[in-house]
Amino acid sequence: MEALEPVRIGQAGLGAWGKNIVRNLDDLAHLTWICDQTEARRNEFARRFPGARITPDYDEMLADPELEAVVIATPVPTHYALAKQALEAGKHVMVEKPPAMRATEMDELVSLAAERDLVLMPGHLLLYHPGVVKLKELVDSGELGEVLCVYGNRQNLGIVRTNENALWSLGVHDLSVILYLLDEDPEVAVAYGRDFLTPGVEDVVFCYLRFPSGKIAHMHLSWLDPHKMRKMTVVGNEKMVVFDDMELERKVTVYEKGPWRQSAAYGEWQTRTGDIHIPKVDTSEPLRLECQAFLDLIGGEGDRRAVAEDGAMVVRALDRLTESLRG
Ligand SMILES: NC(=O)c1ccc[n+]([C@@H]2O[C@H](COP(=O)([O-])OP(=O)(O)OC[C@H]3O[C@@H](n4cnc5c(N)ncnc54)[C@H](O)[C@@H]3O)[C@@H](O)[C@H]2O)c1
Repeated sequence: MEALEPVRIGQAGLGAWGKNIVRNLDDLAHLTWICDQTEARRNEFARRFPGARITPDYDEMLADPELEAVVIATPVPTHYALAKQALEAGKHVMVEKPPAMRATEMDELVSLAAERDLVLMPGHLLLYHPGVVKLKELVDSGELGEVLCVYGNRQNLGIVRTNENALWSLGVHDLSVILYLLDEDPEVAVAYGRDFLTPGVEDVVFCYLRFPSGKIAHMHLSWLDPHKMRKMTVVGNEKMVVFDDMELERKVTVYEKGPWRQSAAYGEWQTRTGDIHIPKVDTSEPLRLECQAFLDLIGGEGDRRAVAEDGAMVVRALDRLTESLRG
């Protein structure tokens, strides 16, 4: 059998994050184009990837009929327009999170991709993190019992952003994980926060979500905090589990702890503490796994529609949380 040709791919945006993506694309696919509006960036990457064509003009890259797929790692406000243009040009798209800043815009991208049977994959990095994949396995296998609540902590001192607030910059990560773990659209989405440093840009945000099944979730998002935390806690009625991305060797910890009572009707609630277990978690680079997942979807593996729809669920929830925050 003939080996499949590597996907001919182009990338727009070679900034702080884009440079990590392009390195992986060059390893995993056929990097044929790179595009950035900043000349210094173009010069730097032209030296590093002499086999790729380089341009400041996104339209020129999209006009190449041999280009199959595009990765967009430009600033957030540009995502929707660039993704739309690429889909209209018939290219598969992986777009950094969030792909759009309004649910209506995201729905439009999802429809466009579905009509043309193209991949539209949001860059939700954590969904490819082996630690989060382990959390999902634990939730789906029923090992935790019934999941009652989930909460995320994403706090640090800095980086202070002035364009997107903590909800859009940090919250999109936790929200993508919470919705992936619970696989439900929230029926309540409430957020409170304050813009202490830059008017109109909330630095500290607290969010509450409630789901039709009765499960609840919370997110604390802040760049005004003494703790550097990147943590997700899942509380089940039989076991509880913590994913801590600041840990090197114990990314996932399962606690055999839970409430119990002797008789469901009359017994008093007691607590049970058992072993603490640290499952082995693969140390592969999540970004590489994410890029590979995009190529796999292009190759026909996985459910490309579901990936786009899951992305829309995240933007919908962000949109509602923003309304609540501003309300
Ligand atoms: N998944 C993650 O963990 C993660 C982490 C950091 C950033 N990000 C996302 O990556 C994206 C980029 O962030 P960054 O920190 O690299 O930003 P950045 O400002 O460092 O880089 C953006 C680059 O895009 C270029 N650019 C802007 N408009 C363009 C256009 N129309 N065509 C071509 N190039 C254009 C700029 O010249 C710049 O080089 C953002 O969406 C951000 O949310 C994701």
